[in-house]
Amino acid sequence: MPETRSYTPPAGHHFLTPLYDVGVRLSTRETVWRSALVELMSPKDQDVLLDIGAGTGSLAPLLARKNAATRYFGIDPDRHAIDIARKKARRAGIKAEFAHEIFSADAVAGWPAPSLATLCLVLHQVPLDEKLRLLQEIHSVLPTGGRLYIADYGKQSSWLMRKLFRATIQKLDGIADTQPNADGVLVPLMIEAGFSGARELKRFNTITGSISILCGVKGT
Ligand SMILES: C[S@@+](CC[C@H](N)C(=O)[O-])C[C@H]1O[C@@H](n2cnc3c(N)ncnc32)[C@H](O)[C@@H]1O
Repeated sequence: MPETRSYTPPAGHHFLTPLYDVGVRLSTRETVWRSALVELMSPKDQDVLLDIGAGTGSLAPLLARKNAATRYFGIDPDRHAIDIARKKARRAGIKAEFAHEIFSADAVAGWPAPSLATLCLVLHQVPLDEKLRLLQEIHSVLPTGGRLYIADYGKQSSWLMRKLFRATIQKLDGIADTQPNADGVLVPLMIEAGFSGARELKRFNTITGSISILCGVKGT
């Protein structure tokens, strides 16, 4: 049963959800970082990918293009976003399953155990304690050797990226949830949640701040 806990919708406000895909495309160099994410994940035939905070499901068609045999499961508390995700998957003719729910280990207990998990543009929108909870619960559902990939606004290292992030994303999503990301909290939080080898793999400068791809592994 879908949870009713509060969350920030994809574009910060419910009325903006229909504009989310266009906004991300125009403001984040989306094709570049999403393609890099899929390349880095290097999904194999037997892999199962869990996309937490899947939103409008933009990752699913890219994954299918890279490896149609990899199974994709997306979960998100926003009904409107999930409706859009299901329509996009149908239109693309790909197999993708979506659940309308806030992520927890219990919420995905009925799905096959994932070998890969991803959080794209989710953590900058949630409070610090929720960032850690999400990472800990993802760690709990992955098997040993399972990998988590994060693509999100991370540490904003240059003066220009900090200014652009402040003028755009922080105006839309507020300072409280976004500033810890800009200060570089993601790698320490991944380590606190139990991930081994947590590190930034790539960083992309965009007109809304820099987006990092980070990876961590569930060790023994
Ligand atoms: C900015 S959108 C990103 C959507 C998608 N991952 C993408 O890359 O375009 C963030 C998404 O996280 C979802 N979300 C917010 N809080 C969440 C939570 N606690 N658990 C799971 N998803 C959450 C929102 O509903 C929203 O769709």
